[in-house]
Formats: sequence, C-alpha cells, structure tokens
Amino acid sequence: MPEPISQVLPSYLDPAHPGPWGIYLEQVDRVTPYLGSLARWVETLKRPKRILIVDVPVELDDGSVAHFEGYRVQHNTSRGPGKGGVRYHQDVTLSEVMALSAWMSVKSAAVNLPFGGAKGGIRIDPRKHSQGELERITRRYTSEIHDIIGPNKDIPAPDVNTNGQIMAWMMDTYSMNEGATTTGVVTGKPISLGGSLGRVEATGRGVYVTACEAARESGIDIKGARIAIQGFGNVGGTAARLFQEAGAKVVAVYDHTGIVHNANGLNVLALFDYVREHGGVAGAPDTQTLSPKEFWSLETEILIPAALEGQITRDNADLIHTRILVEGANGPTTPEADDIISSKGTVIVPDVVANAGGVTVSYFEWVQDFSSFFWTEQEINHRLEAMMRAAYAAMSGVARQHGVSLRTAAFIVACTRILEARQVRGLYP
Ligand SMILES: NC(=O)c1ccc[n+]([C@@H]2O[C@H](COP(=O)([O-])OP(=O)(O)OC[C@H]3O[C@@H](n4cnc5c(N)ncnc54)[C@H](O)[C@@H]3O)[C@@H](O)[C@H]2O)c1
Repeated sequence: MPEPISQVLPSYLDPAHPGPWGIYLEQVDRVTPYLGSLARWVETLKRPKRILIVDVPVELDDGSVAHFEGYRVQHNTSRGPGKGGVRYHQDVTLSEVMALSAWMSVKSAAVNLPFGGAKGGIRIDPRKHSQGELERITRRYTSEIHDIIGPNKDIPAPDVNTNGQIMAWMMDTYSMNEGATTTGVVTGKPISLGGSLGRVEATGRGVYVTACEAARESGIDIKGARIAIQGFGNVGGTAARLFQEAGAKVVAVYDHTGIVHNANGLNVLALFDYVREHGGVAGAPDTQTLSPKEFWSLETEILIPAALEGQITRDNADLIHTRILVEGANGPTTPEADDIISSKGTVIVPDVVANAGGVTVSYFEWVQDFSSFFWTEQEINHRLEAMMRAAYAAMSGVARQHGVSLRTAAFIVACTRILEARQVRGLYP
C-alpha cells in the first residue's frame, strides 16, 4: 500500500492542496509494483533533488521597483544534467514547477536522453511588461539561479510564454557572469547563437513518427488514414503537414478561432496560408464548420490533441471514436477520460513519448554546442526519427510484457532507467 500523501509530502506543500505534485506522486505509486527490486529506491522519485526559490527584483519602466517569485527545481540528475523549460505565468506555483520537473525526468528517461529533469518558472504575466522589463527580469532571474545551472548541471529551455529571445538573454547573462561564451547553457536558442536546425518542427515530427509506429502496430495504413487535429501551431501544424505528405487525409483542424472540416481531406498548405492571413482556421474556403462536440465525435483513425492541457475529459471522452489518440500537447487527457477511451480499445500514445521530439532536438542542440560542430537538418531529422522509434518500441514492448497501457509502460521504462542509474551510482557518502 502506498503511504498516505501527507507522509510523503514535504512540509512546504499543503496536504489539503498538493496540486500537480500530488498527481505526480500518484503516478509513481501506480508504477512502483512494476519496478521489482528497484522499488527500494522509489523514494528518490518522490523527492526533488534540489529546489531553489529566488526573489527577482526589477526596476520597471515607470521607475518603480517590482519583485517577482522565481523557481528552479531539479527533480533528478541521476542520468545526467537537469533539463527542462522556464515558464513565465502569473499562476505558476512551486507544486506545478516540481511536477513539471518530475515529468521532465520521466520524459528524458523514456526517450533515453542522458538528462535528468528540471523546470523553472517566474510568477509573472509577461503580457503586462515591455520588452525592456522582460529582459531585465530574465537577466536577474538567470543571475539568481546561476550557481545551479550550466551545460553540465542543468540546461533550461523555452516553455509557456518564453522563447528564443529569452533563451538568448539567459545565455548572454550566464556567459557574462562566467566570463566565457557558453552557448550550451540553454537550448531553444536562435540559430545565430548555436540553436539547432530542425528544432521548430521537432515536436510535430515526433508526434508524426510515434503516430506512424502506433498505426503500424494497429495494422492501419497511413495512406488514406483520417486524421483530426486540435491545435494548428508549431506542433499540430507540423504534424498535419507531415501526415498530408505521407498521403493521410487531415479531415479536421480545431484552433482557437474555430473548427474546419473536409471529409475528403483539407489542403494543409493552403490552410497555413489562410491562417497567416486571417489569424486562424475559421472560415477557410472549401471547409465546413463543426461544433466542438461534432469535432470530438468524428470517426477517425488518428486523433491528435495538440493545443492545450485538459481538453479531453469525462464530458467528451464518450464521444471519441478513433483508433489511436496521440498526445501532442502536455496532459491533454484527464485520467478519467483516459480510462473511458482506453476501455473502448483506443490506443493512447502518451505525451511523455509522443511530444518528446522537442527535447530530443534540444539534446542535439546541446551536443552540437559542446562540439561546436553543426549538423544538417537532414541528419537531425534522421537521428530524431530513429530515437523516437526506439522510444516507442521500448514503451510498446513493456506494455505487451506487463499487459499495461502505453502510458503506464512509458513510466515503467523511465522510472526503471532512472532508478537503475541511482542504484549503480549508490549513495554518497
Ligand atoms: N512546441 C514544442 O516544442 C512543444 C513540446 C512539447 C509539448 N508541447 C505542447 O504542445 C501544445 C501546443 O504547443 P505549440 O508549440 O504547438 O503551441 P502554438 O502556440 O504554436 O499553437 C497552439 C495552437 O493551439 C490552438 N489553441 C489555443 N487555444 C485553443 C483553444 N482554446 N481551443 C482550440 N485550439 C486552441 C492555437 O490556435 C494554435 O493553433 C502545448 O500543450 C505545448 O505545451 C509543445
């Protein structure tokens, strides 16, 4: 029996409101029975290795001084340096950053990257700040966490509301404090600063590759397969294009402006042009408009939520009629919805593997920065596809071996890899 949450929860979290960290702890409890003798080390997963909370004071454009709360959490570094994004959002909490850092440990290990898991955040609404203020906030935050980050320690990346420019400021601040240009301290940088080719499309490409693997296992031909996608941005848009190039029919796309449908397949390239001009898919020519209910009810071979978290809940799970659901977004399916959809025989390719293409090319960026030798986009895509296929195969093999879902299998693969490293390293002192 797992311990009650109040006994494993650190004193700085409220047992009545454990937040996302509570969800993560439950996930660890669910995989523990499959860890064999490694279960001895499972407490390692339930305690972040290091948490840093910093005050970020900054002078605003009007001359006043504001203070923001910043975090960097390193959940686990048994397999390598910490890796994970930095989120700028007014509602970021310590519990959330802890959980996101742990999910990065799982993601890195599930794809077999030589990284641990970490995450950072600042409680700030970036839309309320000028570029100058954002730059000063980013630089001060980077200085405050300087001691615990670095190319061999912990490598931040973009996440919600952060981007290549913010990574460039982080890299510059770190380099100034070190007295040496250190490109490998962050990933997701602009190409001119040691960023990697292929990074922008990497997550969508990973979604496409894992979907193809799942389709192959289910005996579905990608040629002619019907695909519905929620989200037509970086992830959903790239996946849509790759599916169309492979001869699949992207029958519906759902974005923040509306939903477009064409049973014979949308013209994805024309839709990109339309979105560039009009800001969203709503009203695109040669399409019918669907309601959200109609979208989720579409009969498809592959459904890809690639927009936001928590989109598939017990309220719409019953409507879903697809053979394979590929989680492009992080956490798009609630646990209740997962049970409902799985019970119908739908295969769910979990986010920790399906959308790991981004962190995989971040790994390539880090490797290229270390060696100061840059690969072609073709090489990057080739290596990415090989790693995604290997990750899918490892997960799928464990799912068959234990008769569990791909999600549970991904956690078993990842936690086993992390705890094997923990065990052979041993405890110091
Ligand atoms: N970009 C990456 O490398 C990456 C990596 C891992 C996970 N993810 C996750 O994938 C998801 C999408 O990321 P992205 O980079 O493509 O973002 P993006 O901003 O490029 O695109 C987001 C898309 O979602 C749509 N959208 C927003 N709100 C919506 C709503 N209420 N209903 C329907 N559609 C809505 C937008 O219109 C847009 O098409 C996020 O959950 C993100 O955390 C992204």
